[in-house]
This record gives sequence, structure tokens and C-alpha cells, in this order.
Amino acid sequence: LKETVPGSSAAADLRINIDRLMARLFELGKIGALDGGGVSRLALTDEDKEARDRIVGWMRELGLTVHIDGIGNVIGIRAGSEEGLPVMVGSHIDTVATGGLYDGSLGVLAGLEVVQVLHDAGVTTRRPLAVAAFTNEEGARFAPDMLGSLVFTGELSLEDAYDIVSIDGERLGDELERIGYRGDASVGGLAPHRYVELHIEQGPRLEAKGITIGAVTGVQGISWTEISIQGVSNHAGTTPMRFRRDAGYAACVIGSFVRELANTIGGDQVGTVGSLELHPNLVNVMAERAKLTVDLRNTDENRLQKAEAELSAFVDRLAKEEDLKIENRKLARFEPVEFAPEMIDRVEKTARSLGLSVERLPSGAGHDAQMLATLCPTGMIFVPSAGGLSHNTKESTKPEDIEAGANVLLKMVLDLAS
Ligand code: GLV
Ligand code: MN
Ligand code: MN
Repeated sequence: LKETVPGSSAAADLRINIDRLMARLFELGKIGALDGGGVSRLALTDEDKEARDRIVGWMRELGLTVHIDGIGNVIGIRAGSEEGLPVMVGSHIDTVATGGLYDGSLGVLAGLEVVQVLHDAGVTTRRPLAVAAFTNEEGARFAPDMLGSLVFTGELSLEDAYDIVSIDGERLGDELERIGYRGDASVGGLAPHRYVELHIEQGPRLEAKGITIGAVTGVQGISWTEISIQGVSNHAGTTPMRFRRDAGYAACVIGSFVRELANTIGGDQVGTVGSLELHPNLVNVMAERAKLTVDLRNTDENRLQKAEAELSAFVDRLAKEEDLKIENRKLARFEPVEFAPEMIDRVEKTARSLGLSVERLPSGAGHDAQMLATLCPTGMIFVPSAGGLSHNTKESTKPEDIEAGANVLLKMVLDLAS
């Protein structure tokens, strides 16, 4: 191995290998691949296990020491020339059921690519490096989202996390055990010096402006509520409108209220009903039961609270007017997070030093970085999403943008670990 001294001009000239990074992205994307494109790797399924095995295999090939903690976070450590807190990079490899190849996987695989570049150039950084793949970032199978990183920070106990039940009725602790990823490394035993996450933007802003790099300022607040409505099934043809206790009707009205609410609050407020189930779900039977989810987000905590209060008041009124029993259950609630100015500046400066266009923007999606931000100064690098599409099988990012983002990650890691 030739030796490259960190901080030297030879180290500054190091660049990631985009073909190798794309090859790993496509290889991981074969695990849980859907016909017609995209992937389904819901957390703690067999597909998630297979993808984890692949990541662990690549980590070992790169000489990393692999730690699996009690919530199944996979963390590969590369020793530095000195002991101390590692510079951590990472993201997640679980996906929504109709996901793409880039959401999450990019941050983990770019981390491995950074390690590979350092390995091939014979660079030993002063600080250790850590590459993390956090458990269940999506929250699509087990709520809340960012669960592995939340447990990592100590804000959710292992015991409470194990007892969470999935949308398909399985207990998280049992599923973790079943796929062999309930590890014995202590959770959060590895507090990082700094955390940096490369991720696709998942929205339209960078592409619309022709900007390559987003310096992420923070993550908006997230509020998830599950609403369960109990009415009475009855005949669709014989029941006069005034006698109905129709759970399906109530679910539809809530859906339309969520859209109006977001429009009325305006600004950054968004609102989504992403899941809706009716029972018995038949053409000529009024639904006796309905279950729906509401996802409300805002960069402003006060406005998010106002949206939650208005939704709750609307649901209470509806229950009275329609003589229904309606129950709310909080699935996730995270306040908006602002990243450390030092790290936002660093993303911006690093991108500029590589001759890349860069702009500051907040994240609309949740990320493990928002949890890590409670442990250490944290930054995020965004690259554009084609057509602003994500949580969609057609999600994609141009290789040249991925290359640019991964080079920003490489340079930040070298600077922070030197
Ligand atoms: C999770 O990543 C989300 O933003 O929904
Ligand atoms: Mn993600
Ligand atoms: Mn996602």
C-alpha cells in the first residue's frame, strides 16, 4: 500500500470511484427488487436481513470491525492513528414497500466508498471512522421512524422499542431476533465526534434550481397520528342518510380536512393521509370501521402544534355529529431540528472548494441525522432527486450528482478526522 498523509495535497486530491459506488447501489437494489423497478425492504423482513448481511460482508472486506447493537444498528469501525470518538457517516438500508434504490442506501454505501478510497490510498486518519446503517429509519412497518437512531441516542429504551408492533402484527424484538440482528454491542456505546449523512433530497428544489449540493439546515417537525373510527355497518340502499353512522364517510371527510388544514396554515405546512383501511370494504355496505393515518409536518413547532390541535378538534366534532367512536394514537412526534451552524457551513464550504453549486435548504423528510444531532454536531449533504420523486420506485439521482455528493462526504470526513 502506498501511504498518503491525511491533510497533504495528495489526500486533498483523493476522489471517490463513482462506478464502484453505483455498482454497490445496484447490487443492494437487487435485494427486495420489485418487478418493474424499485425495492421493498421493510424493516426486519427477510429482505432487510439479506441486505444487512451484504453490508456486513462489505464492511468486513474493507477491514472494518463490525458492531451490531441491541436494536440491530450495524456499525463498522475503522481505527484511526489515535483513539477517541469516531467521525461517523451513515444512513439506513430499510425502505418503504414501494421504495427506490437511493433513499438511505446512498448514505451507507457512500460511507463504504469513502472507506475504500482511504484504504486503497493507504490513508490512516487521526480519528477513527464509523459507518452506520441504522435500524428501521422509514417507520413504514414499525412506528416511529428513525427508530434505530432514536434508541442509539437513548431517547427510546430498548424495552419499549422491542414491544412495538408492526403493521403486520409482529413484535419488533421478535423480528429482530428472528433475522439474527439483535446484537450484543451496547446501544449508543459509540458516541461520535461528528456525524455526516449524505442523502437524496427527496423533493424538487435542487433540481428545479440546477443546484448540485444541498447544505441541509435542519429537519422539519413530524407528527404521525393513527385514527380509528367505529361506526355501524348497514345497508347502502335502505339506510336513510340521517340514520347513518358511517365510518367510511368520516375517514373521507378527515382526509379532505387534512388537505384544507395544510392549505389554510400555508407556508411549510404539509399534511397527508397515506394509509386508509375500511371494514368490511364492500360496495353496498357502510363501513363499520375505518383506520387512517395522518402525517403532519412543519419547520415551525408552533404551527405544527396548531395543526395538531385543529385536527383533533375537528375529529372530536365529527365524532359527536356522526355519533361515532373515534380514537387517536400517536405513532411518531418529533420537533423540528436545526443542525449545528458549524456543520452547515462546512458542507457549504466543502462543496464550493470542489467547484460545486450549493444552496442551504431544510429537509422535508425525516433522517437519522436529526437524532444524531442530539449527540454531536451533525450535518447533512443533499443531492438532487430527479423529478422530486421519492418513496416511489422510480426514485433516481444522476451518477454525476451522486459522485459530487460522495466527494463532499469524502472531503468532510478527511477534514473532520484529521
Ligand atoms: C421517514 O424517513 C420520513 O420522512 O417519512
Ligand atoms: Mn431516508
Ligand atoms: Mn424514506
